[in-house]
Amino acid sequence: MTTDLSRRPDGAVVGESMPHESAALHVTGHALYTDDLVAGRTDVLHAHPVTAPHAHARVTSLDPAPALDVPGVVRVLTAADVPGVNDSGVKHDEPLFPDVVMFHGQAVAWVLGETLEAARRGALAVEVAYEPLPAVLTLAEAIDAEAFQGGQPTVARGDVESGLAQATHVFSGELDLAGQEHFYLETHASLAAVDEGGQVFVQSSTQHPTETQEIVAHVLGLRSHEVTVQCLRMGGGFGGKEMQPHGFAAVAALGAVLTRRPVRVRLTRNQDITMTGKRHGFHAQWRAGFDAEGRLLALDATLTSDGGWSLDLSEPVLARALCHVDNAYWIPHVRVHGRVAHTHKTSQTAFRGFGGPQGMLVIEDVIGRCAPLMGLDPREVRRRSFYAEGHDTPYGQPVRHPERLEAAWGQLHDEADLERRLADVAAFNDAHDHRKRGLAITPVKFGISFNFTAFNQAGALVHVYKDGSVLINHGGTEMGQGLHTKMLQVAATALGLPLELVRLAPTRTDKVPNTSATAASAGADLNGGAVKDACEQIRRRLVEFDAGRGLEWHELVSAAYFARVQLWAAGFYRTEGLHWDSTAMRGHPFKYFSYGVAAAEVEVDGFTGAYTTRRVDIVHDVGDSLSPLVDLGQVEGGFVQGAGWLTLEDLRWDTSDGPHRGRLSTQAASTYKLPSFSEMPVDFRVSLLERAHEDGVVYGSKAVGEPPLMLAFCVREALRQAAASFGPEGVSVDLASPATPEAVFWALSAARDARPADPADAHVVEGAPGVEPDQPPPDAPELHPRSEQAPAGPR
Ligand code: MTE
Ligand code: MOS
Repeated sequence: MTTDLSRRPDGAVVGESMPHESAALHVTGHALYTDDLVAGRTDVLHAHPVTAPHAHARVTSLDPAPALDVPGVVRVLTAADVPGVNDSGVKHDEPLFPDVVMFHGQAVAWVLGETLEAARRGALAVEVAYEPLPAVLTLAEAIDAEAFQGGQPTVARGDVESGLAQATHVFSGELDLAGQEHFYLETHASLAAVDEGGQVFVQSSTQHPTETQEIVAHVLGLRSHEVTVQCLRMGGGFGGKEMQPHGFAAVAALGAVLTRRPVRVRLTRNQDITMTGKRHGFHAQWRAGFDAEGRLLALDATLTSDGGWSLDLSEPVLARALCHVDNAYWIPHVRVHGRVAHTHKTSQTAFRGFGGPQGMLVIEDVIGRCAPLMGLDPREVRRRSFYAEGHDTPYGQPVRHPERLEAAWGQLHDEADLERRLADVAAFNDAHDHRKRGLAITPVKFGISFNFTAFNQAGALVHVYKDGSVLINHGGTEMGQGLHTKMLQVAATALGLPLELVRLAPTRTDKVPNTSATAASAGADLNGGAVKDACEQIRRRLVEFDAGRGLEWHELVSAAYFARVQLWAAGFYRTEGLHWDSTAMRGHPFKYFSYGVAAAEVEVDGFTGAYTTRRVDIVHDVGDSLSPLVDLGQVEGGFVQGAGWLTLEDLRWDTSDGPHRGRLSTQAASTYKLPSFSEMPVDFRVSLLERAHEDGVVYGSKAVGEPPLMLAFCVREALRQAAASFGPEGVSVDLASPATPEAVFWALSAARDARPADPADAHVVEGAPGVEPDQPPPDAPELHPRSEQAPAGPR
C-alpha cells in the first residue's frame, strides 16, 4: 500500500493522456446540463425577474396584482413570501427581494408562469414605483466619494521608504485595469422541486453546492438536511458560479415550496450579463524603486478594486491580489494596501485567478513601463528579479522550488528559439516603418490553496459493488476543467484497476457534505486526496482479506463480501502545513506555487492599431500531470481567456447622467468582443515543464485551472514593445487595459510623437512624489448592515 501521497505506482492510470470523460457527450449534444432536465416536462413553472431600470433607487411601491391577470401567470414572488431570511449573500448584504435597488437590472420580484412567455409578460405587468437615488459608478467616483466596503488590508515587508531612498531609479504611476465577463456557455440555471415530506431538491449550475444548499436553507427557514443540491455539470463556471448561483437557486426553491410544483430559473444571456458579477476591475497607484542593475528594490502600491453593490467574494479576491503583486519577483521592501470600492454595479466576483491576475498585472505593467526608462530590456529586468532559493514572499511564505522559474525560462528559450527570433523581430522592425513586431516573455508564479485555511478540505465516497464495479462520488464539481476525468484516473490508480471498472456519480450534498467550492484550482488536489484516501481504505481491507492468496479482483471482491468485509469507504483529505493570519496578512497560505513562462510575438499595424498574434510558446509547470491532455487543454484555454481579458474584452457601463446611467451597454456577444478563431495565435505551442514532480500532492501533480490565464501577460507586453518600436529608442509606452486595437493605436501614436530625450509617458515620472503614505481607512456608509455571524475574511 502506498502511503506517500505523491508516489505513483507502476502502470498507473494517472499520467495517461485521455479525453475528457464527457467529451463524446459534449460534442454530440447528449451531455445534460441543469436546464436540460426541464425538456419534455409539463409540470415545471418558469420564473422571470422583474428588473429595475435604475442603478440606485428606492422601491416606493410594488403591486403584483396586474401580473396575476396575465394568462398563465401563477404567482409573483416578493419579499413578503420569504419564510426565512430575505438575503442570498454569504455576507448578508444581498437582499434577495430588495427595497433599495443597487444596480441597473437588479431583480426586485420574480414572476412564475406556466410558460416562460407568460412569466415574462407577467413581469412586465408588475407595477413598481421607484425613487431614483444618486449612483456611484466608476472607481474614480468611488475613490473621490470614499465609498468603500469591507476590510482594507495591507501586505508589508521591509521598509518601503528606505528602500525607495536607496533605489537608483524611482518611478511612480497609475494603472486602470478592466474587469471581465465570464461568458460561460451555460448561463445561470436552477431547477427546484419539493417532495412529499417537504425535502427540497435543487439542481443547480453551481461550483459550490454546499453554499448553495446553505443559502437556500436560510432563505426558506430550513435546516441543511432538508435541502439537497445537485450539480450534474456546468457549461463553464470560471468562478462566476462560485457564489452567484445561490440567489437564483433560492428563487427556484422558494417558488417550489410555495406552489408545490417544480420551478425553473434560467437566465437569458442578456439577463446573465446584466444581473451577475464579473471579474473586478482595479485601479492601482504605485511607486517602484530599482537598483543600479534594474532589480526591484521597493514597491509601494494602493490597489482599489471595483466591488460592485455587495461584498460577495471581493475581500478574498483582494487578498489574493495583494498576495500576488510580487508575481515571480523578489522585492525586498513592499507595502501594498488594498480596498474594495462600493459601486452601483453588479457584485463583482471570482474569476479564474481570483484577484491574482489583477495583482500580477500591476507589477508586469510597472516593469514594462519602467524598463525602457532605465535603458534596459524588460526581459532582463524580469529575469534579474526572479525569486531564488531562500527568498520568501512579502507575506512571509518561503518560495518553494523557485529554480523552476529559471528551468521553465531556459526550456522556453530553447523550444521557442527565442534569441534568433528576437533578432528577427529587430530586423523586421528596422525594415518596416508602418508595421512593427514585438516579442515578449513573462513569467507566472501562482499560489495554490485557498488563503482561508479551513476551505482546504475535501470528502469522497467510494463504493465497490459485489460484481467488482466501482462508483465514486466526491465533493468537487465539473465545469469542463476535467476534474471528473482526473478523479476517475486517481480512483483507478489507487485501486489498481482499469478505468472501465470505475464510474462517477453527480456531485450531491447528500453524498458528500460540507464541501468547499470547486475553486482556487485546488479541485484535483483536494478531492483527489479524498478519493485516494477512500480507495486506499478499501484496498487495505482487501489486501488484508486476500492474505497473500493473490485472488483476481472480481473473485476477491465477491469473497470479501461474503466474508462481510466493508466494500465502500468515505475518504477525507486536508492540506497540511497551512496557516494564514488575515489581520496581519501573513502566514503560509499556499501548499506550493505553480510556475510558467510564456512568449508571444505580435505584429501591429501602425495605421489602425490592428494586430495579430503570430506565435505563442508556453512552458507550464503542472508537476507530474494527472491527465496530460486535460492539462494541455487547461493551459491553452486559460491562456486564451487571459488574452481575451487583456486585449479584447471591454465592459462598458453607461456613466453619463442620462436616463440609462448605470446600464451595462455591452450585454451580448455583439457588443462584447470575445476571443474567437481569428484572434488565436497563428502558431500556438504548449509544453509542460520537465522534471516537475511535486512532493506531498496527489500523485506528484500540480493544480492547473487558473495559473495559465496569467501567461497571457506576454501578449500585452509584446503589444507594448511593438508600439514602442514606432517611437524613438527608450520610449516608455503606457498601454490601456484592455489593449484593444484602438488602445494600441493610441499607444503607438504617443510613442511615434515622443521626442528621443523626452519619455512619452507623462504618467511614469522618475522621482515623482507618487502615492501618499497610508491613510486612515475612511468610514464608508454601510448600505446594508452585515450580520455578526457572517463568516469573515479570505477565501
Ligand atoms: N475550465 C473550464 N473548461 N471551465 C471552467 O469553468 N474554471 C476555471 C478552471 N478551468 C473552468 C476551467 C477555474 S476559475 C478554476 S478555479 C478551476 O478550473 C476549477 O477547477 P479545478 O480546481 O478542478 O482545477
Ligand atoms: Mo476559480 S476563480 O477559483 O472558481
